[in-house]
Amino acid sequence: MNFSDETIVVQNKVEIVNCLPEIGKQAVVNEIIAGLKDSPKHISPKYFYDETGSRLFEEITKLDEYYPTRTEKAILSSLWDKLALEFDALNIVELGSGDASKIRLLIEQIPKYLLPQITYIPIDISIDALEWAAQELTLEFPEMDIQGFAADFLFDLSMIPKEKKRLFCFLGSTIGNFNPDEARRFLQMLGQEMQSGDFLLLGMDMVKNVDLIEKAYNDAQGVTDQFNKNILHVVNRLVGADFRHEYFDHLAFYNRNKNRIEMHLRARKEMVVHLKATGETIRLNSGETIHTENSHKFTPNDIAKFGQWAGLQTKAVFNDRKGYFSLAYYEKGN
Ligand code: SAH
Ligand code: AVI
Repeated sequence: MNFSDETIVVQNKVEIVNCLPEIGKQAVVNEIIAGLKDSPKHISPKYFYDETGSRLFEEITKLDEYYPTRTEKAILSSLWDKLALEFDALNIVELGSGDASKIRLLIEQIPKYLLPQITYIPIDISIDALEWAAQELTLEFPEMDIQGFAADFLFDLSMIPKEKKRLFCFLGSTIGNFNPDEARRFLQMLGQEMQSGDFLLLGMDMVKNVDLIEKAYNDAQGVTDQFNKNILHVVNRLVGADFRHEYFDHLAFYNRNKNRIEMHLRARKEMVVHLKATGETIRLNSGETIHTENSHKFTPNDIAKFGQWAGLQTKAVFNDRKGYFSLAYYEKGN
């Protein structure tokens, strides 16, 4: 997270605005430290995504075990006609855009002559990911404007330009990383932000064979292990802590009652961690865990429920043949 640089990065048809200073460093410090003092301890998964974390996530998406990315990409690759959108009167907003490798699959299906009329608006907490993605997309689609925002989408969505109708995309099942309260608040905020005639494409990883899901979060190469432990480096930087990742084990298991993968970091030994930001210390017992991520898996009931929370009508649901992943397509009515 970059709090110090409010500058606007402009490069030909690319503009990236850093909205992170509006949240403020102190709010972030307070949030992280409150989580570390809680019982059980937790850190929000949004802190995975510094430069290293964004790169590691990109690596995860290429692993054999991590089925969600290739499954969702296969659905996206032939979606354009099915969306039946008038792209000449529409901008594309992507929340949690990451490496933008999914949206490019959709954009490449749009007739080239329409691209000069479309602005792609990626929003991500990782300014590094935004910059890399914008560089690649502008090379591939030089006719299209890109206006990115480095922002926390849980905090505020009001910066999203409104002058045209918008297709909102929230892909990758990132909605699954919210707890149910956060998901409800987020969808209500998004629904209020949307205007009549706007659309939402929501990627959701569905409930399925537990072995398959658990393998996706316990890959043989240990990339997810590194991704999980990287959050300690981010926290060290943000609150001046002295966590040592080698004192922790990666833990990822399916919680059948809550239909979710839980990722934790389990302390290998008792330790005291110093937090320079406040001068405090926190103590961990051997075996104690820090909860770093939930990744909820969904059912068709959730698709309907999310539409109701956001005040949107479900237009269609697109699935792969095995029903592993769904893209729910909603519209905001009058
Ligand atoms: N949509 C991509 C990336 C998913 S990874 C895909 O499907 O592959 C989740 C992305 O959301 C990351 O790029 C991360 O930086 C971003 N993200 C996570 N929490 C966020 C938050 N609170 N606000 C903005 N972006 C966030
Ligand atoms: C971004 N998000 C949907 C991923 C997920 O599957 O929950 C993040 C991730 N965590 C571990 N592996 C991938």
